Order: sequence, then C-alpha cells, then structure tokens
Amino acid sequence: MLKVSAPGKIILSGEHAVVYGKPALLASVDRRIVVSFGNSDNFSEGQDFIYKAVNLLRKNLQVKDVNSSLKIVSDIPVGSGMGSSAALSVALSALFYKKYKKVWDLNLINDMAYQIERIQHGNPSGGDNTVSCFGGFLWFRKKSKRKMLFTQVKPTKKLPKIIIIQSGKPRETTREMVAQIRDFYVHHRREVEKIFNNLESVTKGFLKCLDADFSDISILINENEHLLEALGVVSDKTRFLIRKIKKLGGAAKVSGAGGIKDGSGILIAYHKEPEKLFLFAKSNKLDSFSVILGGKGVKIE
Ligand code: MEV
Repeated sequence: MLKVSAPGKIILSGEHAVVYGKPALLASVDRRIVVSFGNSDNFSEGQDFIYKAVNLLRKNLQVKDVNSSLKIVSDIPVGSGMGSSAALSVALSALFYKKYKKVWDLNLINDMAYQIERIQHGNPSGGDNTVSCFGGFLWFRKKSKRKMLFTQVKPTKKLPKIIIIQSGKPRETTREMVAQIRDFYVHHRREVEKIFNNLESVTKGFLKCLDADFSDISILINENEHLLEALGVVSDKTRFLIRKIKKLGGAAKVSGAGGIKDGSGILIAYHKEPEKLFLFAKSNKLDSFSVILGGKGVKIE
C-alpha cells in the first residue's frame, strides 16, 4: 500500500521577515506525518482544510477517483509552529502525484503543496512546505509569489542539542499572525523594516554558526527572540517562561508565527546541560522533547 511521509520543521531564524523577502533558516525535524489511502483515524488538523486540499489536488491533477478516503497519522504538534499543515500539504501532494500521475518530482510536489498552504494561510512565504519537501537545513528566500530561492546547507559540525518546549497552543492562527504583522508593517513601515533588517543579520549569524562553531548559539537565540518580541508575536505568558529559562542559564525563542493571547507555540531552547530544560518544563507542566534536525524530506514509506 502506498504510504507517504513528510517532516515537520523549526525555524532557526527569519520567521515573519521571510514573508517580506528576507532570508530564513529552517530545518526539518524527526517528527513526521504519514498519509495513505484508507480509513480515516482521528486527526486534529482541520477536516475543512483536508477537504479543501483534496479538492484542489483532484482539480489540478484531474483526478476522477472520488471514493478514496485518507488515513493520516502524525506526531507533529498541530497549530504550534512546527509545520504540521505544511507537512500535511507536502505529503498529500506527493501521495496524489505518485498515485494518480506516477510522478515523483520534488519541485512539482512542492509547488502544489505551496498552493495548498495558500488556502490555509493566505500569504505564506513557502518556506515551511519547502523544508518539509526537501528536508535538511534550508536557506530560503521568497522573491515573489512565484519565485523562491533556496539552498540546502550542510552543518560542518555536530549540532548542539535543541529542546522543544511547548509554551501553549496559540489562540491565533498563522494566517491571523501574518495579517497582524502586515498591519504593523503598513502603519509603522520604518520601524518594522528595521526589525526585519536586524532579523536578517541574526539569520546570517545562524548560517555562520552552522558553518563554523556553535559557541554563539545562545546569543543568537536570545537576539532572535528579542526581535520577535519587538514585532509583537510573543505573549506575556511566553515571555515570562523565556525569562525563567534565561535565568537558568539557557536560551529560548519562539519558532514560527507565534501567538499573543495565550501560548506562542513551540519554543526552541538550548542549554549546555539539557536536563535543566527538561526539569524546567516538567515543573511548569509543559510538554518538552528533543529533536534531531536536518532529516530527510518527503519520502515513500
Ligand atoms: C510560519 O511557520 C512562518 C511565518 O514566517 C509565515 C511564513 O513564512 O509563511 C510566520
């Protein structure tokens, strides 16, 4: 039976700014979504989204078969900045291309996944689906709606351990957060551009870090978080958690669209003694887990 899987992602740096043509550095994670044709299990990514995605695929790939139902199994947290919807878009696109067109072409799969992502998020950069499709570490830049430039980057040294801490599922959707930044940008263009320029410098810092040594990773994580706070995508509750992590000697940042009213989604956190982060998460009743970055993109299981 045909089964396709695609990974979730984290953004090391560049979220939001990437929607405006700035670079982002993204990495795939070792948590995946697996889709196949078969009876549906309970999967919490919106049924409405799946329905629209499948309709788009049927229309664009001229699929006549309307009876196939889907089985979706995933260990990527939903609606929390870890690329669950992008992984679903990529996996569905690949499943349909493979089954109905007998084609396995990552560029075609990714283009279609981007169209699906646009149904869900309005004006996404395309970074999330691209890293889920190609895997690894991705230096990504959106040039226009149709043109995206990206390169895979291979870290030259073993990466430090990154821990994911769930700050709480945001009440806002990615679409709402992106729209909020649009509003901020329209009304305070100079201020927002300054933040985006600073984010670009931090993103370049992360790129250097992958290439040389990781001694600066805490500084870069802290700077990135500081800029995301200036953009207004981090809730008070999450800021408070991040301050506590810093007091413990660690560093943490929001990764993805963020959230303001309650949680801000997953945090990527670093501490030279990772156990301290797990203990912190446990005592604050927060989910936490370690991730391996840079694994394979979409694949047939
Ligand atoms: C969401 O994971 C990342 C954002 O930069 C939006 C996007 O890139 O489309 C906030």
